[in-house]
Amino acid sequence: MNEKNIEQIVKQVLAQMGSGTPAPSQSGSVPEKARVAMLTELEHYEIKEYPIPPLGDDDILVKVEGCGVCGTDAHEFKRDPFGLIPVALGHEGTGEIVKMGKNVKVDSAGKPLKVGDKVVTCMIFKDNPDITMYDLNKQNVGGADVYGLLPDDDIHLNGWFSDYIFVRGGSTIFNVSDLDLDSRILIEPCAVLIHAVERAKSTGILRFNSRVAVQGCGPIGLICIAVLRTMGIENIVAIDGEEQRLEFAKKMGATNTVNFMNHKGIDALTDAVKDAFGGYLADFAFQCTGAPVAHSNIYKFIRNAGGLCELGFFINGGDATINPHFDICSKEITTVGSWVYTLRDYATTFDFLKRAKAIGLPMSELITHKFPLDKINEAHQTNLNKEGIKIAIVNQ
Ligand SMILES: NC(=O)c1ccc[n+]([C@@H]2O[C@H](COP(=O)([O-])OP(=O)(O)OC[C@H]3O[C@@H](n4cnc5c(N)ncnc54)[C@H](O)[C@@H]3O)[C@@H](O)[C@H]2O)c1
Ligand SMILES: [Zn+2]
Repeated sequence: MNEKNIEQIVKQVLAQMGSGTPAPSQSGSVPEKARVAMLTELEHYEIKEYPIPPLGDDDILVKVEGCGVCGTDAHEFKRDPFGLIPVALGHEGTGEIVKMGKNVKVDSAGKPLKVGDKVVTCMIFKDNPDITMYDLNKQNVGGADVYGLLPDDDIHLNGWFSDYIFVRGGSTIFNVSDLDLDSRILIEPCAVLIHAVERAKSTGILRFNSRVAVQGCGPIGLICIAVLRTMGIENIVAIDGEEQRLEFAKKMGATNTVNFMNHKGIDALTDAVKDAFGGYLADFAFQCTGAPVAHSNIYKFIRNAGGLCELGFFINGGDATINPHFDICSKEITTVGSWVYTLRDYATTFDFLKRAKAIGLPMSELITHKFPLDKINEAHQTNLNKEGIKIAIVNQ
């Protein structure tokens, strides 16, 4: 600890002794204003500056270190389907606590919180650890403490595409100081797969020695493979149309890959999947694309009495055609859907990321591009052009 730090701590303690009510604890100097990337029109962010407001007793000010660009951000950037513009986006973010109100002692899991800790927020509320996105929609409570997804307010420090984020009292927040920056940026998308695998396990079909097909090797499919590998499942076939992504799937632990572009027609494709499993169909399959035809196809890759987890349609992607007799009924396939995650899944994700690293999975390589905040438009265009896997904004 250097002299400056000691001086700072002494000043802080004296200030607290003098005032009777402890002042918010604080690290370093906090500027008066923060930069926020505000989506002001379609396909255009503007870097705006807003004052950092005084902290309430339950609030937390976080200096943003980085934030992943999600498919949801891409939809909003391109189409603004919910009419949110102007909006502060970025929900896959993480940063360091620089200031806390006097009442803040622990995170949403009861872990102590202090200035300097690295944190993430979560859009699921802490009141009910098992509540799902589906329940939230039913209760129509999406709002209050959700960051980077919902309409702006008069503070504007609501999204992680910024320098600072103002975390209001009562928000769901986790201390993840034991994870490196890349892992912390990946928490949110990884939680989606922890949830999907929990849903898959509920069928009773997914076992250590299952043959598992993962269709779609974007971030979601690749992380799916990583979760399966960390739980000890070894026989995984990845399916995609892009060779580079299939190569990545192998690095992530897929045993074999199938490029659907090389097989004309569903029968040939099914044979290729079967060959990739050494002459067997899949016991279980994860559908990780947003393409309706991929949903139609996947039933063919699954054996009789096998299982399917459909998680590829975060939003409406249109209808898919299936044959109820051949695809589900006579095959007795057990199907589960999966949408977002619960708070318990979030906590499980922190451990998953440590395990993935421990067994040498190249999780950090998922983040193929890092842009500073003022290059956020470029970052989104890179994402739209599908030039990388995961694009992130990383502050200097
Ligand atoms: N369930 C949830 O809560 C949840 C959360 C996040 C994302 N999602 C959804 O998951 C999907 C995947 O997300 P992502 O970020 O990985 O997207 P992505 O677009 O980066 O990846 C999709 C991959 O699927 C491949 N693909 C397309 N058609 C295919 C086909 N017919 N057969 C095999 N592969 C095909 C593409 O080449 C691409 O690599 C998206 O549609 C997204 O909306 C769902
Ligand atoms: Zn996301």
